[in-house]
Amino acid sequence: MPEFLTPASATFMLADEAATERAGAAVARAVEDEARCAAVLVCLEGDLGAGKTTLARGLLRALGHAGRVPSPTYTLVEPYDLAGLRVHHLDLYRLADEEELLFLGASDWLDAPGLTLVEWPERAPGLFARADLRLSLALAAPGRRLTLAAAATRVLAVSAELSRVQEPDPT
Ligand SMILES: Nc1ncnc2c1ncn2[C@@H]1O[C@H](COP(=O)(O)OP(=O)(O)OP(=O)(O)O)[C@@H](O)[C@H]1O
Ligand SMILES: [Mg+2]
Repeated sequence: MPEFLTPASATFMLADEAATERAGAAVARAVEDEARCAAVLVCLEGDLGAGKTTLARGLLRALGHAGRVPSPTYTLVEPYDLAGLRVHHLDLYRLADEEELLFLGASDWLDAPGLTLVEWPERAPGLFARADLRLSLALAAPGRRLTLAAAATRVLAVSAELSRVQEPDPT
C-alpha cells in the first residue's frame, strides 16, 4: 500500500466547549477545498454528550453558517448550502435500518461534491465503512479527547489545521 494511503491517527485534547468548536472549524478548513469538488464523508463517533454536535457547529460556522445548528436527532438530516458548498449533517441515533438513508435522499448527495457529517455512524455500517475521516470524541474530564483516523495524508492535513488551534495530546 502506498505510504500516503496507510491508516494513521492523531489525538488532541479539547479543554472546553469552545475548544471543540475550534476543532470543528479546523476540520472545516482542512476539507473545504476538496469538498467543493468531491464528496467528502466525515464520521463523528462518541457516546451521548461527547460533543459531536458541538464540533459540527464549529465546522458549519467556519464554513459561513450564521444561524443555530439544530441537532438532527429526529429529522435525521439537516441540509445546508453554504456559498455553494452543500453540507449534510446527519444524526443516525434513531435510524432503525440503514435502508432508511435512501428515503432521506442520501443517494442524491453522498456521491456528489459536498461534505457529509455523520453523528452515530455506527448505525449505518455500510456508510461508516466509506468514511474519508473518522473523528472520535471521548470524555476526558473536564474536557474531551479527539482522535482522528484516516489515510495518512488526510490525518496530516487535518492535524496541521488542528495544531494551529490546539496542543496535540502528549501521551
Ligand atoms: N471539550 C469539551 N469540554 C467540556 N464540555 C464539552 C466539550 N465539548 C462539548 N462539551 C459539552 O458537551 C455537551 C454535549 O455536547 P453535544 O450535544 O455536542 O454532544 P453530542 O455528542 O452531540 O451528543 P448526542 O449523542 O446526544 O448527540 C454540551 O453541554 C457541550 O457544551
Ligand atoms: Mg449530537
